[in-house]
Amino acid sequence: MIDRRTLIATGAALAATPAWAAKSMKSTAFPKAFLWGAATAGHQVEGNNIASDLWFLENIESTIFAEPSGDADNSLELWPVDLDLVKSLGLNSYRFSIEWARIEPEPGRFSIAMLDHYKAIIDGCRQRGLAPIVTFNHFTSPLWFTARGGWLNPQAPKLFARYCQRVAEHCAEAISQAITFNEPNILRLLGIIGLPAFILDTQKAMLDTAARKLGVTKFAALNAANPADLEAMLPILIEGHRAGKAAIKSVRRDLPVGVSLAMLDDQALGRNSLRDAKRAENYGAWLTVARDDDFLGVQNYERAVWDDKGRVEAPAGAIRNDRGAEVYAPSLAGAVRYAHAATGVPILVSEHGVGTDDDGVRATLIPAALTELKRAIDDGVPVLGYIHWSLIDNFEWIFGYKPKYGLASVDRSTFARTAKPSAAVYGAIARANAV
Ligand code: FCB
Repeated sequence: MIDRRTLIATGAALAATPAWAAKSMKSTAFPKAFLWGAATAGHQVEGNNIASDLWFLENIESTIFAEPSGDADNSLELWPVDLDLVKSLGLNSYRFSIEWARIEPEPGRFSIAMLDHYKAIIDGCRQRGLAPIVTFNHFTSPLWFTARGGWLNPQAPKLFARYCQRVAEHCAEAISQAITFNEPNILRLLGIIGLPAFILDTQKAMLDTAARKLGVTKFAALNAANPADLEAMLPILIEGHRAGKAAIKSVRRDLPVGVSLAMLDDQALGRNSLRDAKRAENYGAWLTVARDDDFLGVQNYERAVWDDKGRVEAPAGAIRNDRGAEVYAPSLAGAVRYAHAATGVPILVSEHGVGTDDDGVRATLIPAALTELKRAIDDGVPVLGYIHWSLIDNFEWIFGYKPKYGLASVDRSTFARTAKPSAAVYGAIARANAV
């Protein structure tokens, strides 16, 4: 039984509830039709993407890849298991990518069987009530494309658009959102997100060898190119995005198309902070491009605090990911707020997550980050959905299979998927459409 003192105290607390708190108590629900998803990318989960440029890099003598991608998670065959997993977690969308190197393994030769394969995944999503969010280029391209100069080749936008057109003609009907490029700005951030110094040094030797072997002056892949080439790649990538989008829209005008960007939550500290200059450098051109798009994909993993000299160290005692970077839950909402303010278009959180062997960190991060994201939505930021990276542990590029980003682990000899406890935490939020 409640005693009199408790009753009076409770009454007083209720009466004292400020208006903003009362409002937020009423609206714990996310918007109707909010997309709750998990993401993968072809090269990272399918396995044996042998006609691609990254496969080539992984397997040359001077490679800096910790290990080759090999069979990956065998999602090329096991995609129905992946879709069942997404469904079983209580999610309503799945983001995956189409491998250009499978669709067009030789220039101009398009594989109907592979177009059918990806169409089956899209249809498989729909059959399970999942919205298929499809990335047309998640870093990897056909080796022949990179051997023609890759993203430094002035013909690149045309070649990319031709591929987009074929995919759209075959598959666009049931796609829910299309993303042209995944993180075309990633290489600009590599210096900031604290990659070990040996990577930047040894990467050059690997790329020079690769270029020599292919008989091209430079190797310029989306996530493997020399910093000196980034300025020249930028306008070609922007044109590629525009041409790819136009090709998709020519098939299905009402299909929402956007690009996804790697974005930190940049925060200013003190006077003359470098924050705004860094923002301009890392995303400026792409944010201008995104103003003409249907939405912008935001992919956030950390924050960066900038003073007048550079990036400030994370506070002592911060929770850290497997690279030693700070895990800061409000960073997602910070990046989303800025992305919307800078573009005016709706935001899709197309990636967010954490690389960690401690799934408890992930289980704590997800609700904390979503609570902040909800605040941003309540403040008027249009957010279409939240897609967690990743559905399953996978091939984390140069770092190989060691980093663990998955909501589920994968046994790499049986390919069995096992959901981690964080998946249940996330699934409960998605099912309730509330955090
Ligand atoms: C993003 C990439 C994705 C994965 C995560 C951890 O930058 O888009 O493929 O590597 O980071």
